[in-house]
Amino acid sequence: MNVMFNISYGLYILTAKTEKLNGCVINALSQVTSTPNRIIIAINKNNFTTEQILKTKKFNVSILNEETNFDLIKRFGFASGKNVNKFEDFSDYKIAENEIPFITQGTNSYISAEVLEVRDLGTHYEFLADVTKEVSLNDIPSITYSYYQSNIKPKQANSNKKVVYVCSVCGYVYEGDPLPEDFICPICKHDAKYFIKSEA
Ligand SMILES: Cc1cc2nc3c(=O)[nH]c(=O)nc-3n(C[C@H](O)[C@H](O)[C@H](O)COP(=O)(O)O)c2cc1C
Repeated sequence: MNVMFNISYGLYILTAKTEKLNGCVINALSQVTSTPNRIIIAINKNNFTTEQILKTKKFNVSILNEETNFDLIKRFGFASGKNVNKFEDFSDYKIAENEIPFITQGTNSYISAEVLEVRDLGTHYEFLADVTKEVSLNDIPSITYSYYQSNIKPKQANSNKKVVYVCSVCGYVYEGDPLPEDFICPICKHDAKYFIKSEA
């Protein structure tokens, strides 16, 4: 077990605005001081949202709640604003006072922030930012990264597993699907009807 998986995170949509409205899913966010109210976020240098925040030094963070659906995660977490317009055909947002969007569905609140310091972490930039506004939208509980993994992310068909046929007499395993009707076990010589379909 990777011990780092025991660290728990929230899940957020980080939004920014330049010539384009954009945003991405992040989990790497922490409130680091409350007086003054400051947060840090760590975002990959390749993200379009990162480029935008480097330019404008401001962003919003929408806090995801238990009504978040996978479509929202897909829209903001699996595509880049470099290639698509994530706000096209999307109406679940409003524009905050800082002119940056916040997400109105599947979220319970949003915060606006202004960047104080940027630290180069190699693959990522870490932004230390002042929280300039906090707005509550509803009381539906926030989700954690592990809630997302268990309840929102679709369960994948296990692509590593393959179908095999096991001879119920001697245990010989035929790898392949389907088992040919005239197959004879090379070990015990029993025919195909003695084979049981299984997964390996
Ligand atoms: C569950 C989840 C958590 C993520 N957490 C982070 C994160 O903490 N930092 C980060 O840089 N990217 C994170 N990502 C990846 C970005 O959301 C993703 O690369 C996105 O497509 C970047 O979009 P952009 O290029 O428009 O900014 C996460 C994605 C998912 C699905």
